Amino acid sequence: MPTSKRRKRLPQLTRKNSDKFFLYIQSVQSPDHEIDFVTTQFKKLRKRPLRRVREDFCGTAISACEFVKRHPENHAVALDLHKPTLAWGHRNNVAKLDPAAQQRIKLLARNVLSPGKEGTRVDAVLAMNFSYWIFMTREAMLAYFRTVYQTLGPDGILFMDTHGGYEATKVMEERRKVYAGGGRWFKYVWEQSSFDPISGRCECRIHFEFEKGPAWKDAFKYAWRVWSLPELREILAEAGFKRSTVYLEGDNGKGGGDGVFRPKTVGDPDASFIAYLVAEK
Ligand SMILES: C[S@@+](CC[C@H](N)C(=O)[O-])C[C@H]1O[C@@H](n2cnc3c(N)ncnc32)[C@H](O)[C@@H]1O
Repeated sequence: MPTSKRRKRLPQLTRKNSDKFFLYIQSVQSPDHEIDFVTTQFKKLRKRPLRRVREDFCGTAISACEFVKRHPENHAVALDLHKPTLAWGHRNNVAKLDPAAQQRIKLLARNVLSPGKEGTRVDAVLAMNFSYWIFMTREAMLAYFRTVYQTLGPDGILFMDTHGGYEATKVMEERRKVYAGGGRWFKYVWEQSSFDPISGRCECRIHFEFEKGPAWKDAFKYAWRVWSLPELREILAEAGFKRSTVYLEGDNGKGGGDGVFRPKTVGDPDASFIAYLVAEK
């Protein structure tokens, strides 16, 4: 039988036939790059492989899944308060791991401020996609960083991402096309809908738009405080971390990032940037 080399085109995505977590993962998560960064930097800093991770604010726990599938000695605990999101992660991410890897990951419906026994003495804590910006005061952020400090192993490391630049406080909307495989695409819309310069609080929303039919307005909403790197580094030091390092993304020469994050002590006054902030115990 002759076979066609053409890839099968799947039906276009619409609000009706799509899943908001699938759209979110496709739009803003790169678990492979994230785990590459975390494992490489841990090995460089601690001269041993990273084996025990806690993913705070894990959502669907896709990063923890990526971590456990990489090595038979990798273990992960993933914490989130929202049970339906964790259940989605179980069905769609954990269930796809091989049975042995499934034994090495635990998803717990738990506040990151109380990680419990299972979330203690880990080598690394991951807090990604700016989730820790839910803490609205210096006191609350300090309490979180202290919890992380106390629940890391003796040479543990906290890995976070952060964003900044003068556009971080701008009320704005930006959209980009995301290809979802099988000839399908949708548009990811990031809206910074409000910012209050007195409290530093902002509200951000994610919408999805499709080739046909209605958009998915407010698929996700976040109430955050916009935190700067110097503020965060001062609070990390107060919580006991010996050293914090900022890894800035290189320039691709076309006004975008090149996906490579390098340790820096001085940055450029960019309109918008993302960075990793790495705090060592
Ligand atoms: C922006 S999502 C992050 C998902 C994923 N970590 C990522 O990198 O895209 C934030 C998640 O944090 C969870 N969350 C908010 N406050 C929390 C808390 N105090 N403890 C645990 N999870 C929390 C929410 O339920 C939500 O799933």
